This record gives sequence, C-alpha cells and structure tokens, in this order.
Amino acid sequence: MTATVVRYEPRGAALDMFRSKANEILMSGAAGTGKSVGALMKVHLACLHTPKVRALIVRKTHASLTASTLVTFRQKVAAEAIAAQVVKFYGGSAQEPAAFRYSNGSAIVVGGLDRATRLLSTEYDLCFVDEAIETTAEDLDTIVTRLRNGRLSYQQLIMATNPGPPTHHLKQRANAGRCQMLYSRHEDNPRLYHDGEWTEYGRAYLERLDSLTGARKDRMRFGKWVAAEGLVYEAWDPAVHLVDPFEVPKDWTRWWSVDLGYVNPTVIQFWAEDPDGRLFLYREMYRTKTLVEDHARAVLRTVQRCVSHCRANKTSSHNCFTCEACVTEWTEPRPRAVITDHDAEDRATLERHLKLSTTAAHKGVSDGIQAVQARLKPAGDGRPRLFIMRGALVARDPELDAAKKPCSTEDEITGYVWDRGTAAQQAGEKPAKDAPLKLNDHGMDAMRYVVAERDLGGRPRIRRL
Ligand SMILES: Nc1ncnc2c1ncn2[C@@H]1O[C@H](COP(=O)(O)OP(=O)(O)OP(=O)(O)O)[C@@H](O)[C@H]1O
Ligand SMILES: [Mg+2]
Repeated sequence: MTATVVRYEPRGAALDMFRSKANEILMSGAAGTGKSVGALMKVHLACLHTPKVRALIVRKTHASLTASTLVTFRQKVAAEAIAAQVVKFYGGSAQEPAAFRYSNGSAIVVGGLDRATRLLSTEYDLCFVDEAIETTAEDLDTIVTRLRNGRLSYQQLIMATNPGPPTHHLKQRANAGRCQMLYSRHEDNPRLYHDGEWTEYGRAYLERLDSLTGARKDRMRFGKWVAAEGLVYEAWDPAVHLVDPFEVPKDWTRWWSVDLGYVNPTVIQFWAEDPDGRLFLYREMYRTKTLVEDHARAVLRTVQRCVSHCRANKTSSHNCFTCEACVTEWTEPRPRAVITDHDAEDRATLERHLKLSTTAAHKGVSDGIQAVQARLKPAGDGRPRLFIMRGALVARDPELDAAKKPCSTEDEITGYVWDRGTAAQQAGEKPAKDAPLKLNDHGMDAMRYVVAERDLGGRPRIRRL
C-alpha cells in the first residue's frame, strides 16, 4: 500500500478517546475543541492500518453531514490519503450508500440518519455520530445493534456533541454509565492553544464565543450541560412535541407563518391543522442573507410543480418560477392564510412574488405567548395541540450552524427565555414574567403568529388583497 503521512497530535480528551476501547464514547465539549477532527482521525487511522474495516460516519441529516463533517474529513483528516489515492470517494447508488473506499479494502460509509435504512442494513466495526445531540435514543440503539463486524479487536460507537440540557438522553446515557463521557476543552485544540498560550486564532475564536449569552454561552463557550433558566416554553418536551414525519392528509388546513429578516434569519413555517385543531409544523425554511423574492421562489418550488416547459429551461420540465411562461400547479393545498410581520415593503414584495395575499400578524406578545403555552399543555385527550415534525427544516443555514446560533424553530424553543434585566438578575430578583428576551426569537415570533391567528379571534382582520 502507498505510504501516506498523517500529521496529527491528539491531546486531552482526544488522546483519551484514541486510547479508549469502551463500547461507547461521548466526546462532549464547547464549540471548536477538536471533537470532530479527533473522532474522524481515529476512524481514518483504523481504516488505514487494518484491512477490511467497515466504519460508518453519520449525522442526523444527510445534508448537514455533507456540509460540515465530511468537509472536515476531506480537508483536515484524509487530505493526504485522498491526494495519494489511497482513499477514494464513491458517490453511492440505488443499492449502495456513499463511502470512502480504502485501497486495503476498508471503507467508511457515510450518510444521514434521515435515510438510514441502506446505511444500517450491514455491520460495522466503528461508528462516529457527529453532533450527536440531534439524534434520538432510538437512533443510537439501532446503530449499536449494527456494531459487530469483527475486523477490529473492539467495536465502538464514538459520539461528538456540544452540551445541551442535563435532561437530554445523551447526558442521561452517560450518567447511567452506558457511555464513557470525555470532556473536550479548547486547550486540547493546538490550533487554539499552543505551547501553553492561546494562539491569535484561538483568542479571536474565544472572543466570538464570549458574545453568546445565557445557556447557549454556558454550553458553547464553557462546555457545560445546563438548562436554560426562565424558559418561556417550560412545557416544551421533545419526547412529546417532536413527532416523526408523516404524510399530511390533503384535507388538513394549511397555514404559512413568516418572520422576515436579512441579517437575522427569515423564518417561513408551514403548518398543517388536523380536524381536531392540532397544529403541526411540517416544513420550515430558516435562512439568513437571502432576498425576499428568493425566499418566495424557494417556497413556490416546494408547493408547486411545473406542468409546461418554461423559457428559462427549455430542455426540462424544471420550473424557473421567474418567467411568464411557467405554468404551474399546486402539489399541496394552498394556505388558508400567509401570516406575516408588519413591515409594509417586505410584505408587498412577498405578496408580489408568491402571488398570494398576506395577513398581518397579531401583534400582542404577551397574549400570543400565553396562547402558545396553552397549546403546549396536554388537552383533555392527553395530547398537546402543537407539534413539530422531525426533519421539518428544509436546510440548515451553514453560517448560523458555524456560529453556533439556532438553526430552526426547534433550536430556538430551548433557549427562548424571559428578559430578566441585568439589574434584576444581579439582585437575584424573580424575573418579570411578561417580556421575552429579544434574541434568537424569529421562529418564536412566527410560531406565535400562527397560534394567535387560530386562538386569539374576535379582532378585526387586516388582510390585504
Ligand atoms: N489536533 C489538532 N491539530 C490541529 N488542528 C486541530 C486539531 N484539532 C482540531 N483542530 C482544528 O480546529 C478546528 C475545529 O476542530 P473540530 O471541528 O474538530 O472542533 P469541534 O469540537 O468538532 O467543533 P464543534 O463544537 O463546532 O463541532 C478544525 O477545523 C481544525 O482546524
Ligand atoms: Mg464538530
């Protein structure tokens, strides 16, 4: 086999991870401590050194794996081996999942747990789950049953994650002794900390994390498993309110709710209402730095299809949604209302491009929040009246993801807190329970709009045609 050079020095938790033969390891730590690089390196070296090893690298969704973990793998971990053609990427087929194939017969299969059937139909020696906080306990239990290929002297599940609330199933798994918890620190990453001091890059990186606030800062800057204090939606429970995707029946009413931004994300939520009035968020767009007209086009592409060839694309039936020649038909019911915030100009642009009228959102924050809280509580039948479908997010915004900011409504809920005011906080006073902190609240606003539209009736409707 051609020799390849690997330059990597594991430190701290990464070194412990390299040495560990535990069945399950959880590498937990603040942002950028070297968790992914360390775990990817362990998997890569195992495949280089031992023939016919089968490894698996996954993240919750295929798209997020490709956009983050696999970029790190190609650029920081396997670059030399790929250049020397010791490792080749195979893009996958209908029968076989995508994989990095090693010249000694080893392979790393890669993919998302959102399309896991093909990935999990075979057996593995090693599995690395990146951003494991996104997975469910069932995802992990299924993976563990596939770890029995027997090419290595040990079989191992390695997980890397930023911390979350202490109630999270990963923390519970570690507490119960099912996995070895390793705390990865910024000092473990030589790019940030070298020869006993912070590098220039390290200082700038930590400064960025210092600007985070609340529980997010405790988790991403200091690597702590903490709950957010003063949560607005205390009743939110992923085990109850997050549901597996299902085909939404055609006769359920649809509502779209929009919170527009540019530097802040624009959030577009697609809600379906069942015959008993329960709301399900079944699709969501959450994206920064995108023009309203581009958002509108993206929306139309998910709900309409082209039934004629349009001018911009003569050779296929793909619809450009920009030219007059596009003839489209709806693939799902039209929304009963498109509820938006109040900015007149943005609303007008959105209406023009969607060719739909919009309804101005109910403005009250306090009563809107109360209406959402009421929906999160179990109703008479024991079920709440608001749910989010797993995988509703169409695509993760890479910039928000890299900055460790919320990337979806679901991400926002667990950090949406009451504004306690610094003075009150310092004096140890109880938070004033009427105004939320105006931070990372774009999905929160859109969710409030749709609930207020349904539940806070009896007011004049402002609908523009
Ligand atoms: N041992 C190492 N030697 C050199 N550079 C490293 C090492 N470990 C990490 N790095 C550098 O630090 C960067 C961040 O590392 P990595 O992506 O593994 O962090 P992470 O802990 O997974 O971050 P996140 O919390 O965002 O997932 C890498 O892109 C790489 O440039
Ligand atoms: Mg990582």
